Amino acid sequence: MLSVGRLAVSLALAGSVFAGPVQNPHIVLPPSARGHRDTVQQIFTESYSAYKQFAFGHDDLSPLSQGFSDGRNGWGATIIDAMSTMHIMGMDDLFQEAVNFSSKIDFSKSQTRDKVSVFETTIRYLGGLLSAFELSDQKFPVLLEKAKEVADKMAFAWVGSNDIPFGFLDFSTNTPNFGRTSNIAEAGTLALEWETLSKHTGNQTYANLALKALSHIANLPAPLPGLAAQGINPATGSFVGGYITWGGGSDSYFEYLIKHARLSNTDDNLFADTWHTAVDSSIKNLLRTSTVGNHLYLADLDDSRNIVHVGSHLACFHGGNWLLGGRLLNNNTIVRIALDLVDGCWNTYAGDATGIGPEVFAYISSDGDFTGDVPPNADQLAFYNEHGYYITAPDYILRPEVLESNFYAYRVTGDPKYLDRAASAVDSFNKFLKTPTGFAGINDVNDVNTSKIDDTESFWFAEVLKYLYLTFDDPNHISLDNFVFNTEAHPFQAPRAKHVYGTPTGGIKHPTKPFSLKKGPPLPAISPNAKLPQPIKVPPQL
Ligand SMILES: *[C@@H]1O[C@H](CO)[C@@H](O)[C@H](O)[C@H]1NC(C)=O
Ligand SMILES: *[C@@H]1O[C@H](CO)[C@@H](O)[C@H](O)[C@H]1NC(C)=O
Ligand SMILES: *[C@@H]1O[C@H](CO)[C@@H](O)[C@H](O)[C@H]1NC(C)=O
Ligand SMILES: *[C@@H]1O[C@H](CO)[C@@H](O)[C@H](O)[C@H]1NC(C)=O
Repeated sequence: MLSVGRLAVSLALAGSVFAGPVQNPHIVLPPSARGHRDTVQQIFTESYSAYKQFAFGHDDLSPLSQGFSDGRNGWGATIIDAMSTMHIMGMDDLFQEAVNFSSKIDFSKSQTRDKVSVFETTIRYLGGLLSAFELSDQKFPVLLEKAKEVADKMAFAWVGSNDIPFGFLDFSTNTPNFGRTSNIAEAGTLALEWETLSKHTGNQTYANLALKALSHIANLPAPLPGLAAQGINPATGSFVGGYITWGGGSDSYFEYLIKHARLSNTDDNLFADTWHTAVDSSIKNLLRTSTVGNHLYLADLDDSRNIVHVGSHLACFHGGNWLLGGRLLNNNTIVRIALDLVDGCWNTYAGDATGIGPEVFAYISSDGDFTGDVPPNADQLAFYNEHGYYITAPDYILRPEVLESNFYAYRVTGDPKYLDRAASAVDSFNKFLKTPTGFAGINDVNDVNTSKIDDTESFWFAEVLKYLYLTFDDPNHISLDNFVFNTEAHPFQAPRAKHVYGTPTGGIKHPTKPFSLKKGPPLPAISPNAKLPQPIKVPPQL
């Protein structure tokens, strides 16, 4: 608690436009943290042993059937995705074994019949290899060679003078999937990995490819200032539709705007300014408070400019990302709202019978409960009246975002309540996800007798267990002031922070011309009351 007070003082004293340190420099880890950290490492060991026993060399362990699956082109996704975590946990033998495995991957073709996702391959394989290369002090050049090999293949996704890469590629013929539209998450979540590859190879082409996609999206006239639409057509470079969300399909584009600014220390303010504009627009248009419990959420906006009162596990990275950006911009308004968003997402864990949060949830605020779908049924309404959210997709597939934001909240504030939350999640994982051979997702987070899901996603190793471990570890280990995490939680070494990120006088941009869709009428300018759905008939008990 003392450390929170100190942070408040240091935030108040800062009072200038200069970027603050991201982390509270005065965190005192309580003695109990060590035991929790060891428990997390034990979960990693059990999960990875099962993977080695039943699935080594394949992408995912199937913990229930004690087999494997190859949804990531069969190059051993779990091994590559787990490497940076192994290094951070000091598991040298496993790390060395993974380096050996990496050196033999054949990236010349997909090992399955699937096309290759440029986004997934970038964040898991390219990010995993490069982070492992850096964390091991560049002692294993083969990691960089393999990173270059897979990126050279992916570079075929940029066709002609297109800024936006096609999302999927046939590695046997180097031909993109021309018929498929992409989204801003797929096209805008490449910068950290590709610029890190340029840094170590000296070939600037990699960074240029990723940055032309990111800048292109940031420069397109958006449905709301800074808030790019979700869909994008790689062939034309135009948005498809006007759906706005911080959730899947858009999420890590917003994440990388500020992370690219930080990792590169670029003097081009486009990225930090667009990020701030997106956050500013979100505060003005998308923030909603639940009528029960006053929880803070970020709504979506659909193509018809209806507010959609939903939240998701994926979107819950926003609290952590706003904390990072709020500290870099030294903007306490953003930091405070971010901490409330972190609380809102944590509440979706705390309210469930398992203590684990759902894939998708919804809520009611003073302007209604329009979810773009169906109104809550009686059970959902009863649950909402107790908890301030209701569950619309009850599965948990080992996603990290809520605990990722919780990690940022701990490192930024030092408030021990975030340690308690992480410890509670670890207990729930041991209680509800554990199988005799590894850890599995669950079909219903609100049922203590839930059935399990026969898959251990590689991000369980890359993200969930790394963020939990680091929450309980020495805060100087992988400090947020020295590293930038890619969206798969692979840390990249960052230079010393600049004094200022973005235009010092406030880089919030306002639209220069009205946004219009290619087909259909121009969209009206939004006002807080524009075209909002009719409030639902609120039952008497509310
Ligand atoms: C990795 O490969 C090297 C060289 O072939 C070998 O000496 C070492 O034992 C291997 N390590 C592991 C953990 O497999
Ligand atoms: C840099 O990388 C690009 C993309 O793979 C490649 O086409 C180009 O030949 C490389 N340039 C050099 C100088 O190696
Ligand atoms: C901080 O960000 C908020 C939200 O965008 C904005 O309204 C405010 O002007 C910013 N404060 C400073 C000091 O730039
Ligand atoms: C869960 O299963 C146990 C054992 O079968 C049973 O005793 C318990 O009532 C069940 N709990 C719920 C909430 O269904």
